[in-house]
Amino acid sequence: MDRISKDAQFVRHMNLLLINGPNLNLVGQREPSIYGTQTLDEIQKELLILAGNLDANLKYFQSNSEGELIDCIQKSVGSTDGILINAGAYTHTSIALRDALLGVAIPYVEVHLSNIYTREEFRHKSFLADKALGLVCGFGPISYQLALKGLVSYLKRKNE
Ligand code: DQA
Repeated sequence: MDRISKDAQFVRHMNLLLINGPNLNLVGQREPSIYGTQTLDEIQKELLILAGNLDANLKYFQSNSEGELIDCIQKSVGSTDGILINAGAYTHTSIALRDALLGVAIPYVEVHLSNIYTREEFRHKSFLADKALGLVCGFGPISYQLALKGLVSYLKRKNE
């Protein structure tokens, strides 16, 4: 296949999934000095525009329930090339989420609004980070945009 048709084919198939875990639905009102004042809806709308500019399809899902997050990860097999995940507090506690991500073997980037390493010690441990493609934290809503750019660039290189 020549380079142009290979690229065109890949563009059609790059499907990304953004997963947000517990309490991220409250972003905008929740501890604004840490998480900022932009709502999750606003963050996601900006991300959709960026994804479009990068020729990627983006779907999103938020849940406060660990089981629903795991179901969403499991259901994404076959339709998702890469995952962006802010697992909220489950980042620091959930071996089950880690197992789900490794189980589906879809590359993922870990995202946090805050810099988890400058906060309480219990937030320094992530059950997801060592298997992630990368981790972006501390830039507020821009963390998601940087993570999206990193994931897209990884997938484009992988498919070259
Ligand atoms: C967070 C950081 C977590 O420690 C916390 O439990 C969250 C949000 C962040 O985006 O900074 O809920 O994931």
